[in-house]
Amino acid sequence: MAIDWQNEIKTSFGKTLISASHTLDRSPSFCDASLAALLDAYPRDQLGIWTFAAHGEGEEAPIRGVAPDLSGEDLLKAVREGRIWLNLRATNQLVEDYAPIADQIFNGLQAATGRKIFKRDMGVLISSPGINVHYHLDIPVVALFQIRGEKTVWVYPATDRYAPNEKLEAIVLRQQEEGLAFRSEFETEAKKVLLKPGMAITWPQTAPHRVQNGDMLNVSLSCEFMTVPALLRANALYTNGRLRRDFGAHPGRPDTVSPSVIGKAALARLLKQSERKPVGRTPTPASFIVDPEAPGCTRPLAVEANLS
Ligand SMILES: [Fe+2]
Repeated sequence: MAIDWQNEIKTSFGKTLISASHTLDRSPSFCDASLAALLDAYPRDQLGIWTFAAHGEGEEAPIRGVAPDLSGEDLLKAVREGRIWLNLRATNQLVEDYAPIADQIFNGLQAATGRKIFKRDMGVLISSPGINVHYHLDIPVVALFQIRGEKTVWVYPATDRYAPNEKLEAIVLRQQEEGLAFRSEFETEAKKVLLKPGMAITWPQTAPHRVQNGDMLNVSLSCEFMTVPALLRANALYTNGRLRRDFGAHPGRPDTVSPSVIGKAALARLLKQSERKPVGRTPTPASFIVDPEAPGCTRPLAVEANLS
């Protein structure tokens, strides 16, 4: 299987949206039978099951679900017929058969960019026709590979206007989820890409984005990773967050790797060690259960809360 990144990736990686062509969509690992077997093999308690309200202005929290007893085949049926987004994070670490695909993607990125690629996490996304993912950002760098179906991705500038510095720091500090408030005037600066099978994109670290599936089942690979500059920036953001919250500072955004960013990244290690109690988000409580027989393939979980 081949992956060909645009030639500009050597000079433009991390600065702009870059695309690739690939042949991973021809792999038998993503046919219906393989996906059902993958869903059976993947640890169910780690499976991300989500739904989202329709796209609109403001901030919308994702809604979490559970599917403790469904077979992979039934789960896939529910995704095809309902409005469900499955995120199989770290499939490369949790299901051995998929590790070679991730190796190919991350080694290919390493060769194309000339940068060391580490903290490699390949998530398999299996999602319903017409579902959208709200405006949000991710702290690792992301490369999104489209395998089946079509989706439109909008990517926005990684600046304070589109994701306020304070919010960005709160996400790094794990004080809030990755969701951000969307405003329709952002649209003028968005880069819009229609992803079809055999296409992939990567965008600048922490650039906000949102996703809209076409009217068919979608399978994509969300490949998250770090480079040395990306990890330095993430740690500098951590320090900035602590300086703002604990010392009333007003730090800017660590866009380039400067001596100040390197110093702040080093300080982050000390600050993390000095934390008295681990900072962490409480997991989003589950509010629905997947049921292929129910209308929309979900039922509210209120009376079955003990399953979460
Ligand atoms: Fe994302």
